[in-house]
Amino acid sequence: MPSPATIRPAKGKLGVLTPGLGAVATTFMAGVESIRRGLSAPIGSLTQMATIRLGQRAEKRSPLIRDFVPLAGLDDIVFGAWDPIPDDAYASAKHAGVLEDKHLEPLKDFLQAIKPMPAVFDQHYVTRIHGTNVKQGPTKRDLAEQLRKDIRDFKATNGCDRLVAVWCGSTEIYITLSAVHQTIKAFEQAMEENHPDIAPSMLYAWACIMEHVPYCNGAPNLAVDTPALLALAEREGVPISGKDFKTGQTWLKTVIAPGLKARMLGLAGWYSTNILGNRDGEVLDDPASFKTKEASKLSVLHTILQPEMYPALYEGFSHVVRINYYPPRGDNKEGWDNIDIVGWMGYPMQIKVNFLCRDSILAAPIVLDLALFSDLAGRAGMKGIQEWLSFYYKSPQAPAGLLPEHDLFIQQTKLKNTLRHLMGEEQITHLGLEYHP
Ligand SMILES: NC(=O)c1ccc[n+]([C@@H]2O[C@H](COP(=O)([O-])OP(=O)(O)OC[C@H]3O[C@@H](n4cnc5c(N)ncnc54)[C@H](O)[C@@H]3O)[C@@H](O)[C@H]2O)c1
Repeated sequence: MPSPATIRPAKGKLGVLTPGLGAVATTFMAGVESIRRGLSAPIGSLTQMATIRLGQRAEKRSPLIRDFVPLAGLDDIVFGAWDPIPDDAYASAKHAGVLEDKHLEPLKDFLQAIKPMPAVFDQHYVTRIHGTNVKQGPTKRDLAEQLRKDIRDFKATNGCDRLVAVWCGSTEIYITLSAVHQTIKAFEQAMEENHPDIAPSMLYAWACIMEHVPYCNGAPNLAVDTPALLALAEREGVPISGKDFKTGQTWLKTVIAPGLKARMLGLAGWYSTNILGNRDGEVLDDPASFKTKEASKLSVLHTILQPEMYPALYEGFSHVVRINYYPPRGDNKEGWDNIDIVGWMGYPMQIKVNFLCRDSILAAPIVLDLALFSDLAGRAGMKGIQEWLSFYYKSPQAPAGLLPEHDLFIQQTKLKNTLRHLMGEEQITHLGLEYHP
């Protein structure tokens, strides 16, 4: 078990690598640089803004998380990326249209210096992207080895002590687990044989794990969520987590649904629809990519509401999720939720949510937190699935045979208790008997 004494200190530079240099990645990088220059506040980031209560309430000990656990400092971060589109981070951010010129222009030189390495990319898996900055090789194994070389070269060129990777690439088509994903041997043989069930995202994950780079998966495609790559992460001692950043509509679902259940209110149906006009929206306009996203979005409510345990409240509720690509909105997504709930004596009620959100503004602090916490996990000797990072994901990875935890507040408690555990502090149970002798 980790302990404060065995956590390696966060010395030297931390390289944060993102497969994908689109809206989310560039908003993350620009934001970190803006914060470093004192121009912005890290709003939305637990590692930068949240406190953690320690001990009894009477002790009044609530340090900032970043003062409590040894995290890498923002000044120590350097950025790298891969993308099939050759645009540097400035050009990509301009294209994404998330940040306004008044925020982007002062960072132009910084962002222009971040140029994407050639990607492992195949249009079969993301049909709507046409990339030219793409690696060539006879086998998927060969392409993955090229990624490993990129990782080593990046580390050496930038003088990094450690690296972490956060997938910020497009959502790939829906792939289900097959025999090639079951064991490390089968997976590696399938790479040699160019098997179609080995998607580019899996090659990044394999390469990162082989290079001992903690890997976080921000998209809903399987990637590291396969028995083979999990076994590899365990074998190599590398922390992994996924899938799919929990940013807008799903984040709100994991706030509202536990509230309904806590009050034992029923649910007849939940209809969610969105309009979105960014490149992600365009990729998700392809039904095969949307199917991957839909599976991730739909999984949330059942696990929180547990209809098998509460059939009178939740059996057979209807859950529909739609995303419509609508270019005029760009990254400024608008979501509508209609929630049909049921109260005392079966009386129906409705909740309407109209969320005008900015996807990448919500995702960027998640990328930062995942990078910093995964680096901490690596230095603390934690390996395999990092369930305490479920807080950040729509479809949290869980050990085989176990249901993932979706309730945001349980996830938050788990995250904070893990930090307390790492630092040798007592768990907080909220029993509170000590205050009433
Ligand atoms: N923004 C959010 O709120 C949010 C929430 C959950 C998940 N996500 C996921 O995060 C990912 C990034 O979102 P975004 O808005 O930045 O999308 P984006 O389209 O702006 O950027 C994705 C980038 O990935 C690149 N890419 C595609 N395949 C690649 C590959 N094989 N290797 C390297 N790069 C590749 C694309 O060229 C593109 O530049 C998407 O998968 C999205 O579904 C985003």
